[in-house]
Amino acid sequence: MSKGVQKIYAEASRTYEMINHLLTFGLDILWRKKTSEIASRLGGTNWLDVCSGTGEMAISLRRVAGPETSVTSADFSLSMLRGGKLKSDARGIHFSLADAGNLPFHDDTFDLVTISYATRNLNPTKEQLIGYLREFHRVLKPSGIFINLETSQPDNRIIRELYHLYTRLAVRRVGEMISGSKAGYTYLSYTVPRFYGAVEFARILHQAGFKDIRVKTMLFGSFAIHQARS
Ligand SMILES: C[S@@+](CC[C@H](N)C(=O)[O-])C[C@H]1O[C@@H](n2cnc3c(N)ncnc32)[C@H](O)[C@@H]1O
Repeated sequence: MSKGVQKIYAEASRTYEMINHLLTFGLDILWRKKTSEIASRLGGTNWLDVCSGTGEMAISLRRVAGPETSVTSADFSLSMLRGGKLKSDARGIHFSLADAGNLPFHDDTFDLVTISYATRNLNPTKEQLIGYLREFHRVLKPSGIFINLETSQPDNRIIRELYHLYTRLAVRRVGEMISGSKAGYTYLSYTVPRFYGAVEFARILHQAGFKDIRVKTMLFGSFAIHQARS
């Protein structure tokens, strides 16, 4: 599947950010900012953003990081990474072409690992997702911080169904219309209703070896930020 995911992002890279901002009414930007504010409070000087895409999360981290902090942006899609590298505010960020399942870093390297809007891509099965999360745990120093910003599931059944309907209709159609990638946005809209609720994802983090797990949910629970310690 990861070859398929790579192809999807190669097709979608040019219009990816615009579609994201449009479909979330700009809230994706606000929540990356919120995530990086949490990161800055928790500290450390060696930060990694995985599945970094066009680098929006890494740039948001760079903005709140002190001059002594190193920020690395890793992704396996060359076209997405290239989009990030070309941005003027990406100065000072290290870019790494890397698969999230086999990161080219030693054990216990980072104080902080973040991932935004990408964990759904790492979830063909729960076991595979746990494998990726263990890889993030491996590159974190003991008691390092992992922060995951991702879609989630509203508890209220009516809101949940409306959210899934919006994803099926708007995300798929608008995404396909603007990017020209039918397969890409069909896949992305397919993953949203199938992803875990906040409590279930916290349980998965625990299974992957994380502790001190905390959750903040946004927009009636349709998005969540999980933070945990390695
Ligand atoms: C929805 S985009 C999210 C990009 C960015 N984090 C953001 O906040 O917009 C998902 C990204 O995950 C990357 N990705 C998916 N599976 C990956 C894997 N196994 N290894 C590395 N990157 C992966 C894709 O190439 C894509 O750039």
